[in-house]
Amino acid sequence: MDGNGRWAEQRGLPRVAGHKAGAEAVRRAMQSAADHGVEVLTLYAFSSENWRRSADEIADLTGLMRFYLERELKTLEKERIRLKLIGDYSAFGPDLVDRLERALERTAGNDRLTLVVALNYGSRSEIATAARTLAGQAMTGQIDPDEIDEHALAAYLETEGLPELDLLIRTSGEVRLSNFLLWQAAYAELLFLDLLWPDFDEAAFAGALEHYAARQRRFGGR
Ligand code: FPP
Repeated sequence: MDGNGRWAEQRGLPRVAGHKAGAEAVRRAMQSAADHGVEVLTLYAFSSENWRRSADEIADLTGLMRFYLERELKTLEKERIRLKLIGDYSAFGPDLVDRLERALERTAGNDRLTLVVALNYGSRSEIATAARTLAGQAMTGQIDPDEIDEHALAAYLETEGLPELDLLIRTSGEVRLSNFLLWQAAYAELLFLDLLWPDFDEAAFAGALEHYAARQRRFGGR
């Protein structure tokens, strides 16, 4: 969800105004995904590198998350959306962690759309953690190192149990993955849009789905 800062700058507004508009775009994307019958929507809300931002901006972002969690919990329940988190969200402090865990519990039984929010997430660290778990199991003889294949590793990624990633969208014109779902993106269609995240609306969502539908995926075959 890139481009909140630039969206604000273009309007002579503080960065937080861009994040607020970005949070509205999150609400629209969530609704569009549910309406289009998308099974899983994953949003990169806070990367493990985002701690390098100013304390004020981090406070603005966590404040917005708190506000939206409170406000949108009813929507999640009404639309039968299940919340799932990836990343080490324990770093956000007890108040936000409590609210996140309450939202996880309250939506656990929902079955329409799974909304995965990546918070303090980094893909390399996720892969390293999975490797460390398998190494530990090999050390204690629980598994034979020769059995460690891609399925064994994927079983310890935080996305375990979710379907294969089909489409990955990055807004704002940057053409990078920036440590997001590196493993999971192996066969995903990548879509880089010249649109700032707050401008990502229902039409952009529908356009992305059309673009995906028009691609032929070969998974390395012909
Ligand atoms: C990237 O734009 C965006 C973020 C680092 C934060 C994403 C957060 C939200 C959309 C709002 C809150 C989230 C939820 C789930 C309610 P940037 O600041 O890097 O933009 P720039 O590259 O133009 O500076």
